[in-house]
Amino acid sequence: MNKFQVFIDENKDILNDFAKKYIEKTDMPELLKKSISYSLVNDGKKIRPLSFLYLLKYYGEDFAEYFDVALAIELVHTYSLVHDDLPEMDNDDYRWGKLTNHKVFGQDVAVLTGDAMLTLAFEVLSNSNIKPDLKVKLISQFANYSGAMGMIAGQIYDIKQKEYEVNADYLRRMHSLKTGKLIELPLDFACQIAGKVEELSDINSFGKELGIAYQIKDDILDYYGDFENIGKLPSDEDMITYLSFYGIEQCEELLEKHTTSAIEIARKLKNCELEDFSNYLLKRNK
Ligand code: IPE
Ligand code: IPE
Ligand code: MG
Ligand code: MG
Repeated sequence: MNKFQVFIDENKDILNDFAKKYIEKTDMPELLKKSISYSLVNDGKKIRPLSFLYLLKYYGEDFAEYFDVALAIELVHTYSLVHDDLPEMDNDDYRWGKLTNHKVFGQDVAVLTGDAMLTLAFEVLSNSNIKPDLKVKLISQFANYSGAMGMIAGQIYDIKQKEYEVNADYLRRMHSLKTGKLIELPLDFACQIAGKVEELSDINSFGKELGIAYQIKDDILDYYGDFENIGKLPSDEDMITYLSFYGIEQCEELLEKHTTSAIEIARKLKNCELEDFSNYLLKRNK
């Protein structure tokens, strides 16, 4: 059995439970609690927080101590999707197999819910149990990867793609920012928290390859997957994606190529756990 799958089966419910209780015990308006929990505690894959905990476990850390950091990571991911689904952006009605946040709570509350999740993520990370010097560094990196030089930059390149000449380099840059950064970050954080700095450069290269592979797979599933599994409807056909740019055959080849590159790095590190993680992402159907 794939080790990452086993890890998901053992920890996803615990993570969802942790998130639910965390939001429940905070002193925020009931409406925000409801709206944040609605989007945060869901049937999503939780790839980012779970890959963080999984790598920490591999490094021999007591990963149960870091559920708060995992929560901070998932809060940023969830906020990005609540805003991504808004009518002003992708205008999507379904996410995680249910109505999008703004369809249930209204656009005004959905904007504030995203803002609240993003700021809460920084509060949670700041209050976590990481050594102070490292924590300051990670908070700065967290802002960089999720912000104007990271995920948000990628989102700008995505929504404004009609104003640019979209070529292979453009696609790759857009995706390595909008998707790649938040796939790289959890692995990078686990490596730094475990003090394995000698592996950091390889872990980063691994994360970059998987980030690209992740988006290619996402574009394929977006078109060929079914609602039952992916919980969302196909995106706007006018948008250029890996699939529309390269076609399905070349996309499958690229997916294989980037996954193989990631696996080669995992093997160089003698890290079977990361190899299993790569294979899980290659074969996922949701
Ligand atoms: C969707 O991410 C958007 C991308 C950045 C590709 P996920 O597929 O990982 O989101 P979940 O699992 O539904 O939360
Ligand atoms: C979302 O990308 C990436 C984010 C940073 C939120 P997409 O718009 O391509 O992903 P889906 O199809 O809505 O999940
Ligand atoms: Mg989008
Ligand atoms: Mg979208």
